[in-house]
Amino acid sequence: MPLLYDETNLPSIDTLRAKNYDNVNPDEVQPIKRIGVLTSGGDAPGMNAAIRALVRAGWNAGIEVYGVTRGFHGLWKGEIKELAKSDVSETLQRGGTFLMTARSKTFMTDAGVLKGARMMEAYDLDAMVVIGGDGSYKGARALARIGMPVIGIPGTIDNDIASTDYTIGYDTAMNTAMDCIDKLRDTASSHERCSVIEVMGRRAGYIALNVGIATGAEAILIPEVPYDFNRDVLRIILDGRNRGKKHYVVIVAEGAGNATEIAKQIEAATEIESRPTILGHLQRGGSPTLRDRTTASLMGIHAIDCLLQKKYNRIIIEKDGKITDVDIEEGLEMTKTIPEIDIENAKRLS
Ligand code: F6P
Repeated sequence: MPLLYDETNLPSIDTLRAKNYDNVNPDEVQPIKRIGVLTSGGDAPGMNAAIRALVRAGWNAGIEVYGVTRGFHGLWKGEIKELAKSDVSETLQRGGTFLMTARSKTFMTDAGVLKGARMMEAYDLDAMVVIGGDGSYKGARALARIGMPVIGIPGTIDNDIASTDYTIGYDTAMNTAMDCIDKLRDTASSHERCSVIEVMGRRAGYIALNVGIATGAEAILIPEVPYDFNRDVLRIILDGRNRGKKHYVVIVAEGAGNATEIAKQIEAATEIESRPTILGHLQRGGSPTLRDRTTASLMGIHAIDCLLQKKYNRIIIEKDGKITDVDIEEGLEMTKTIPEIDIENAKRLS
């Protein structure tokens, strides 16, 4: 795959036009022989299953697969090595990412992207598969814009990638949070307390909302919906107490407030003993659920299918229960928000 820049005359990314493979006769494009894979941004359970699927389906289709460690940072540094089919044995059930991950600021500069592209060229990588969230996709898009073919696979516990209904790691994270909250309810109930639990989601309330429904939380606070503390938290707790309720669970997404502060406010206003718990990175670890293992595996296979069909610069997505793909530029333009009906349903269960 020829690079669009020349070693002696590096153009700035702004001056380069995206190489549009849609307008190229696929028969004139050399088939992919070797690809790289990296994981970037926050880790998510199921990332290993996606890497494994790429390696296994890739090699079975005659494509060599190289692993890049530490995300874009590792690409920039040339931390790249071949992954044999046996290298991914016993990885399917493991949480985290064995390729490790990082948040690279260098890669967001023009020079960083060009260096990454050069590394791809040095290792003869015809395409790079990037597993991560929107930030990682922006790194992938930067490579695509200078002519390096990429494929994105959605991996983040937050489920906040607009192009896809589902992101790898979301189900595991929700189940982990649900288990923890069930346990916290036991102790809140024994002590007749209010338990305020902060779950992950700096910009998105998908985890908070669904885990709140699954654990029967009295109040759920998410970044997408502005709330009034008196009406949406205190009123519900006090109404519950008037009905004879003895314990309460309040779930707050990290982007919607701080559990410690909210617990203090509840205790000050109601004199109900209130304890905060921040679940934090617990939610990112652990063995992936069946949902995450299968989705990651099928998305990895679909990524290889795109490459075999010479469909480049695509993001793998799940839409209406089907694994498919969209253009990376289009995907990054999309927006997504929690459906109103989900918010309404959560309120009806309160
Ligand atoms: O993985 C997504 C996420 O969990 C967000 O919800 C959170 O804001 C962020 O990662 C925190 O990541 P880190 O602690 O690794 O910076």
